[in-house]
Amino acid sequence: MNTPDILRLEDSFQIPTYAKYPIALERGEGIYVWDTDGNRYLDFYGGHCVTLLGHCPPRVVEAVQAQAATLMFYSNVVYSPVRARAAALLASMAPEGLRHVFFCNSGTEANETALKLARTWTGKPGVIATEGGFHGRTLGSLAVTWNPKYREPYAAVLPETTFVPFGDADAVARVLAGRNDIGAVILEPIQSMAGVTEAPPAYFEELRRLCDRHGVALIFDEVQTGVGRTGTFSIAEQLGVRPDLITLAKSLGSGVPVGAVLVADAIAATVKPGDQGTTFGGGMLAMAAVTATLETIRDEALMARAEAIHARLATALAPHVRAVRGRGCLLGLVLDGPARPVIARLREAGILAGGADDPNVLRLMPPLNTPDDALDTFIETFLAVYQDEAVPGA
Ligand SMILES: Cc1ncc(COP(=O)(O)O)c(C=O)c1O
Repeated sequence: MNTPDILRLEDSFQIPTYAKYPIALERGEGIYVWDTDGNRYLDFYGGHCVTLLGHCPPRVVEAVQAQAATLMFYSNVVYSPVRARAAALLASMAPEGLRHVFFCNSGTEANETALKLARTWTGKPGVIATEGGFHGRTLGSLAVTWNPKYREPYAAVLPETTFVPFGDADAVARVLAGRNDIGAVILEPIQSMAGVTEAPPAYFEELRRLCDRHGVALIFDEVQTGVGRTGTFSIAEQLGVRPDLITLAKSLGSGVPVGAVLVADAIAATVKPGDQGTTFGGGMLAMAAVTATLETIRDEALMARAEAIHARLATALAPHVRAVRGRGCLLGLVLDGPARPVIARLREAGILAGGADDPNVLRLMPPLNTPDDALDTFIETFLAVYQDEAVPGA
C-alpha cells in the first residue's frame, strides 16, 4: 500500500479524533523510525513518551515473541509465573513503602484506579487537581484533567473536582481548611502536556504535610515522569516525598499497552477482592514486556544516563531558547514563538519532536539509551531550523 492510500484509508475509516502528522511509519529500531516512503527519522517524540528504550528493544522483542508462542493471555482469575516476576521486579524498583501494584492497560485506567482506591481508603469523594494537569480521557480521569477543551463538553456527568493553581500549596491548604470531604490530591509532578511545567520540591513537601494533616491521599501521576525517565524510577525519590499512590503507563511496556498503580502498604492492606478489576490487566504478553523493560533499565544502568542526556541538550540549547525545562529525558524547550512550525521543519529534516498545550513549548522525550552523537545531531539540526524560523522568509 502506498502512503497516500494509507492516509486515505485511515482518514476514511477511523473517526477523526486525532490531528496526525502526514507520515505513515512502518518500522522502528533504537532511536530511529522509518516511514513508508523509506525516510528515516530520529525519534525524540517516542510515540508520545512511550519508547524509553528506543524502538523494538531486542530484549523486549525477544520476551514478547517467546511469550506469544507460550501463553498469550489469561486473566487474574489464575496465578502466573510471568505476572509474579513482573510484580516482584516492579516492586523492587518502586520507592520504599509503595511496593504493591495493580496492573491495568493504560494511563487513564491507572488514574481511575488510583482515584477509586483513594476514595475507598479515605471514605471521602472530593478531589483536588491542578490547573494545567492532564490525566486521561475516560470520565474519571477527565474530571481531574484541566484543559476545558477536553473536559467541558462532559461537565454534566463528571465527578466534581476542585482545581487549584499548580505550585500553589496555599491554595490547597485553603480548600482543605474549608471542606472535610476531600479524599485525594492528584497531580503530575512535572506537567508535561501543559508545557513541561515544574514546581519546587518545597511545594511537594507541603502537599505531603497537608495531605497527612487532613487524611487525604496524595496521588502522583507519573505516566510520563515514571519508569526512570527523569533519572530515578519515580520522580518522588528526587523530590524527597512519598505519595500514597503512583500511576505508571507509557514506557512501562516499551510500547506494549500496560499501566500500573503503585500502592502504599497502608492502602494495600485495606483493599478487598472486588474493589477493582480488569480483564486484560496483568496479561502475560504485557507482563513479559514489563519484565524485559525493567530488566533492561536495571541491568544496563540506564537511569543513570538521564541526567547526562539532559545536561548535554540543555547546555547546548539553553543559550538559544528562552528556557529549557524538565528533568532527565523529559524536556521542554521554551521558544520565542510557536513551536508548531519548528516541529514541522524538524520533521522535514528527519527528526520527530512534540508540542504542548503551551504553543511556544517544544517537547523532547528521547530514549534513555540515546547515544551522544544522536543528541548532537538533534542539537545541530534544531539550531539550524530554529534560526531559520526566527527570520521570516529566511
Ligand atoms: C500525565 C498523563 N497521565 C495520563 C495519561 C493518559 O494515558 P493513556 O493515554 O495511556 O490513557 C497521559 C497521556 O498522555 C499523560 O500524559
